[in-house]
Amino acid sequence: MIKHVNHYFASITVATLLIGHTLSCSAQENAFHPGQLWPDDNGVHINAHGGGILYQKGKYYWFGEHKIEGGAGNRAMVGVHCYSSKDLYNWKDEGIALAVSPDTTNDIAKGCILERPKVIYNKKTKKYVMWFHLELRGKSYSAARAGLATADKVNGPYTFIRSYRPDAGFMPVYPAGTPDSDKVNCNHPKNKSEGFFCRDLPGGQMSRDMNLFVDDDGKAYHIFSAEENFTLDIAELNADYTGHTGKFTRVYAGHQTEAPAIFKRNGIYYLVGSGTTGWAPNPARWFSAPSIWGPWTYHCNPCQGDGAQITFGGQSTYVLPVAGKKDAFIFMADKWMPKNAIDGRYLWLPIEFKGDDIVIRWKDSWTLNDFKN
Ligand code: DGJ
Repeated sequence: MIKHVNHYFASITVATLLIGHTLSCSAQENAFHPGQLWPDDNGVHINAHGGGILYQKGKYYWFGEHKIEGGAGNRAMVGVHCYSSKDLYNWKDEGIALAVSPDTTNDIAKGCILERPKVIYNKKTKKYVMWFHLELRGKSYSAARAGLATADKVNGPYTFIRSYRPDAGFMPVYPAGTPDSDKVNCNHPKNKSEGFFCRDLPGGQMSRDMNLFVDDDGKAYHIFSAEENFTLDIAELNADYTGHTGKFTRVYAGHQTEAPAIFKRNGIYYLVGSGTTGWAPNPARWFSAPSIWGPWTYHCNPCQGDGAQITFGGQSTYVLPVAGKKDAFIFMADKWMPKNAIDGRYLWLPIEFKGDDIVIRWKDSWTLNDFKN
């Protein structure tokens, strides 16, 4: 059985040996244990890193990067793994939703970098639409593309459609009242990030760490680290969710943000992100806005307590609204293990609201009953 160790820095010893192997039994889980091994219905540690969750017809579907052992696991050797759950504690293995290709000329060739996959459902087309950060095989992080795959069934198989850099030829939109002097003018880029923006204008903006968000009106948005990670772009997707409309805004330009996760509460848009220190943890940051188009206000680190300066060892990946519970949002983060990628852990923590401000605190163990409503 898994031993839950009461500290986020603690390392599991015996249990580590069981990653990727069937545990002797898979007892029903009834709490979250951030940072610990999390066995699926087969007793195998869940393999869905950099993930996101889609809620559909009473079930949650968790999609994430399937990682293998060792450093090779930092590249995509298998694809995107899917799990399902009714209660968020116990997860059924639904298999590989999107497989990498054996064809080395394919954009998603085995050995590419395929990160932070997210899936949304399009009611009009009845398609499940997956977007992810794609880096072409053997090209390190230089391609910086958005990848697209679609499926007729939630758990797949997903078919890869294309990959590209979004918003080629389009200038950003700005909140009303933004002075012209603050807007990008590619005749005179004012700083490094605008320089990257203008460099990439003809071919499309770089698209690395990413997330998706579907608003109450059904419009979907793609949020991604652009301009060598110096800016977050929030870009509108088309009605089918399969392409970019060219309408986008730049958030926190010039400051290097990764790992964006967006949610909405009481009409306010929230965005949580991280700094840019590779696989190593750093302080999180959050932003809020009255509209998806801004203005976005920067608010520093939402984490409090011991470990807050390194996001308790993790990096944001998604914020999950709990179905049917008011004001219940789960901050999902990855504790990366780059030397043995498959051993990456999941830090799920409840978001607390102080008025319209958010706070995230460490908990060794917690349940959905910890949410007030
Ligand atoms: C931090 C990103 O958030 C991860 O998704 C991954 O791209 C690593 N950097 C790679 O160093």
